[in-house]
Amino acid sequence: MFSRAVRPTVSLARSLSTSTQNNAKVAVLGASGGIGQPLSLLLKNSPLVSQLSLYDIAHTPGVAADLSHIETRAQVTGHMGPDQLDAALKGCDVVVIPAGVPRKPGMTRDDLFNTNATIVATLADACARNCPEAVICIIANPVNSTVPITSEVMKKHGVYNPNRVFGVTTLDIVRANAFVFVIKKKGPAVCKKHSRE
Ligand SMILES: NC(=O)c1ccc[n+]([C@@H]2O[C@H](COP(=O)([O-])OP(=O)(O)OC[C@H]3O[C@@H](n4cnc5c(N)ncnc54)[C@H](O)[C@@H]3O)[C@@H](O)[C@H]2O)c1
Repeated sequence: MFSRAVRPTVSLARSLSTSTQNNAKVAVLGASGGIGQPLSLLLKNSPLVSQLSLYDIAHTPGVAADLSHIETRAQVTGHMGPDQLDAALKGCDVVVIPAGVPRKPGMTRDDLFNTNATIVATLADACARNCPEAVICIIANPVNSTVPITSEVMKKHGVYNPNRVFGVTTLDIVRANAFVFVIKKKGPAVCKKHSRE
């Protein structure tokens, strides 16, 4: 009985909290892509985010306008092209990077390296200059190369913190689980047909 009476007070206090934990500025770099758009939608719905900064080399004004119509607290800004990259990153607490090219049929993950390494290195450089203390989450593949690249760029600027650079593999893991399920049910041929990255 007592705990029931207390619970609403606790949750009200949490929702009124103005601590920085509930006021995160988050940037998505590559926000117009297949990963970037649903990711930005999820972030727009998070009560922990107060500012959502969307950057890409294409389409960001439209993506930002669409998301800004959702009635949640995060203020959305759209930034397009290298000239607007610094503004997108200024003061960010968290930066998520799905920018880059995905794997096409016949390509290996190593083939992605040539393009995505340069993209991620450029974006990491901007992070080091504009938000050196931000937590940086790398989605662009190959993650086992793009994370070390980011770390080296941060080191070059003297702002590297190993606790703040992450590779995000959740999507690949979820997909792998789904493929195992399909293989078990229908055999490997079906899985090959549906494979995409
Ligand atoms: N880590 C994982 O679990 C996981 C899972 C799936 C995909 N990925 C990787 O995520 C990346 C994106 O995949 P996608 O399906 O969203 O691809 P996509 O082609 O749909 O989107 C990529 C976006 O990046 C943008 N972009 C390209 N160059 C840029 C630059 N220099 N600066 C800013 N933005 C730039 C493009 O304009 C595009 O909007 C790929 O490298 C893919 O391999 C990772």
